[in-house]
Amino acid sequence: MSKPIKAIFAGSFDPITNGHIDIIERASKLFGELKIGILINPNKNALFSMEERLELIRKSTDHIKNIEVVFFEGLLVDYCKKNDITVLVRGIRSSADIAYELQMAHMNKELDDRIETVIIPTNTKYSFISSSLIKEVLRFNANIEDLVPKCVLEELKKKRGLL
Ligand code: PNS
Repeated sequence: MSKPIKAIFAGSFDPITNGHIDIIERASKLFGELKIGILINPNKNALFSMEERLELIRKSTDHIKNIEVVFFEGLLVDYCKKNDITVLVRGIRSSADIAYELQMAHMNKELDDRIETVIIPTNTKYSFISSSLIKEVLRFNANIEDLVPKCVLEELKKKRGLL
């Protein structure tokens, strides 16, 4: 019997949105194991700490059984090699994402030929969502309750003063 395919959906997740969750739910059905990899990036000015992001992802994905939330630093392909992961999952929202995603997929392939990138188009109802835009509109008190999980909404509201 062939081994289940291990995949990773990596990103900043500052914070996780309903668009991310859509991709996670769908990717979890395609692969035997799916890791959600939070990039440790000390240079990036993040709103949520690493631990807060981990907790929010855990809470909003606890209905999905074959996933694990992890941190990684350095090259994603190196993390994959160490952990026997062969697929990188990426979501695309619109044609505007394609050029960047293709560039990353080609670079990752160049860095490790055994790893494939699988691109999943986001559900159209989430195609305009990004973590940055959510933070921007919340700064002006916009209603974002359909765009992020409930636990994220609560934590975002607590941090409104920092936006
Ligand atoms: O949420 P993002 O910003 O779209 O995620 C981008 C991410 C984390 C997947 C990408 O920046 C990444 O893989 N960073 C780790 C360093 C790396 O491997 N860089 C080479 C990418 S071709």
